[in-house]
Amino acid sequence: MTPESKACAFDYVVREVAPVAEGVHRMVMGVPAELAGALAPGMFVNVEVPHNPAHLTRVPLSFASADAAAGELELVFAAVGDATRRLAALRPGEGATVLGPLGNGWWLPEGAGAGSRVVVVAGGVGLPPVVAAARMARSAGCAVDAVVGAQSASRLWRGGVDELERLGCSVTVTTDDGTCGLRGFTTDALLGLMGEHAYAACLTCGPNVMMAGVARIAREGGTFCEASLERMMTCGFGACSTCNVALARGGYASCCMDGPVFDAEEVAW
Ligand SMILES: Cc1cc2nc3c(=O)[nH]c(=O)nc-3n(C[C@H](O)[C@H](O)[C@H](O)COP(=O)(O)OP(=O)(O)OC[C@H]3O[C@@H](n4cnc5c(N)ncnc54)[C@H](O)[C@@H]3O)c2cc1C
Ligand code: FES
Repeated sequence: MTPESKACAFDYVVREVAPVAEGVHRMVMGVPAELAGALAPGMFVNVEVPHNPAHLTRVPLSFASADAAAGELELVFAAVGDATRRLAALRPGEGATVLGPLGNGWWLPEGAGAGSRVVVVAGGVGLPPVVAAARMARSAGCAVDAVVGAQSASRLWRGGVDELERLGCSVTVTTDDGTCGLRGFTTDALLGLMGEHAYAACLTCGPNVMMAGVARIAREGGTFCEASLERMMTCGFGACSTCNVALARGGYASCCMDGPVFDAEEVAW
């Protein structure tokens, strides 16, 4: 059964917004401490785009960090369509409302704690929630290996890689075209790591095809895997059924309420 949403709408004000890679923008928004403090790693927010009466739906976005003391959320997003392009064009001081906290967030399975090793795998703009996952695993005392993939060096959010290194993760970067790090896919690097280490968990976010590959490699290695899924969303709180996720056992779950993080074994990839 889908849980009940505890989300509220809060005002936000843009504090910083700037491009951080080709087509990718980082926004720091000021939000009430009540929202920032309620957001667990892997949850998401649904952002209203101001000055756009034609655009009724909000933009679901994960966050890289949520700081209750500073009243801040750090978002990193690709400008792929009208709403995300408008968000990228906002100026400091502008704002509207943001709905949250939404979704379930990452969790560490039994056995993933101090003394264990976890691997996180990010592709493209899947990196922000993976940074939050790595921070959570490091806080729990896990050693963390991170694999970060991008199409090309120009598309890589380097600030996310820097933050993973600052957290003490061992980071492997892959690019499809070899312009940065190893040439190839994140799954190639993951296969190598799985041959070297026993992992208590694998946490992943990125393109669906990448996460399906990560889930397969984790299953073959006997490693528990969680994936943060993306679906088209309208309401973000269980009211519209636009965000269905097909389940391996049959039937559907709601990405916004039962996810966005799923046990990879539950998903019909
Ligand atoms: C829980 C969740 C967390 C997300 N976190 C991030 C994030 O941290 N950074 C980030 O860059 N993006 C993230 N996204 C995706 C982001 O919400 C979409 O890119 C955005 O809604 C596109 O809106 P638009 O009006 O600019 O583009 P549209 O004009 O709506 O779409 C442009 C293109 O993107 C595709 N698209 C639109 N929405 C989605 C979606 N939800 N999933 C997959 N494809 C989509 C469309 O099919 C189209 O091809 C997240 C999505 C979800 C569901
Ligand atoms: S987005 Fe409306 S039910 Fe999930």
